[in-house]
Amino acid sequence: MNPNNEYQTRYASYLSLIEPALRLAVEPLESPLKEAISYSLLSGGKRLRPVLTLACCDLLHGCMEDAIPFACAVEMIHAYSLIHDDLPCMDDDDLRRGQPTNHKVFGEAMAVLAGDGLQSLAFATMAHQTLEATNVWHACRAMAAVADGCGVQGMVNGQVRDLQAEGKPVSLSSLQAIHAQKTGALIEAACLAGAACAGADTASYQTIGRFGQAVGLAFQIADDILDATSDAQTLGKTPGKDARDHKATYVSLLGLETARLRAQAACQQAEEALSGFGESAWFLRMTAQNAVKRSK
Ligand code: IPE
Ligand code: IPE
Ligand code: MG
Ligand code: MG
Ligand code: MG
Repeated sequence: MNPNNEYQTRYASYLSLIEPALRLAVEPLESPLKEAISYSLLSGGKRLRPVLTLACCDLLHGCMEDAIPFACAVEMIHAYSLIHDDLPCMDDDDLRRGQPTNHKVFGEAMAVLAGDGLQSLAFATMAHQTLEATNVWHACRAMAAVADGCGVQGMVNGQVRDLQAEGKPVSLSSLQAIHAQKTGALIEAACLAGAACAGADTASYQTIGRFGQAVGLAFQIADDILDATSDAQTLGKTPGKDARDHKATYVSLLGLETARLRAQAACQQAEEALSGFGESAWFLRMTAQNAVKRSK
């Protein structure tokens, strides 16, 4: 099989585990918020983070069933972060995945609450899985990784620093730290959760963490580039927003060409992190490449 087809087939097989599990998690909700939550959680998206969770678990010969709830939890947190990121008090965006943003459809208050609800649903999903896990320590380690990645030392802090940096001069090292937190931390956590579910030893766990950090940085640099170069139809988001909001991005700081080189370098770092796994890490290596090559 051609490597691209093999990649698509593997990606689709992970999606076939994630999509029904997400739907099942939302189905029993009895709340007027159900619609707003479903709107953002079940509305497509690449599902990169949960795919990474399953792929990292797979690489280390873990059981998919153990990892699925954590994969879902990471995607719930991602969906919440997007709803809040789009609010008028943050990036003030009208378009997400080719549809009006959550607050445009349900109003700001419901959008805030849908985000809150998604975050607690993520932790409930992980906690209930932990209660039933065959190895409770593995499950707790995965939950801790997700908590660290999304929280005040991770994604949330990155969002704080992203907003504080608007319109201000920032150094490359500060920008890298912002990107590492706002986007890298949850992507790293997605990878670590998969490794934890597989019972990774310390060395493998650290290797997977380094891979996740590098993919996360590559992914956000690519996001900066797409914002500057793509169109709404392809992207499903309004392009040119970063410049309008005077955001600190790799493109604003270094220009397009250097930003592309930096994305490539981060991708290479991600690939190198996995060198010890040899051929068996082909899917994760291609995922790192696609984080940079993607068109949306
Ligand atoms: C968008 O993430 C927000 C960033 C961290 C750049 P994705 O590009 O993964 O969004 P979806 O889930 O595929 O829509
Ligand atoms: C978002 O970064 C990071 C999040 C934690 C959601 P951006 O603000 O650049 O993401 P988009 O471009 O709106 O998807
Ligand atoms: Mg933002
Ligand atoms: Mg945004
Ligand atoms: Mg962006």
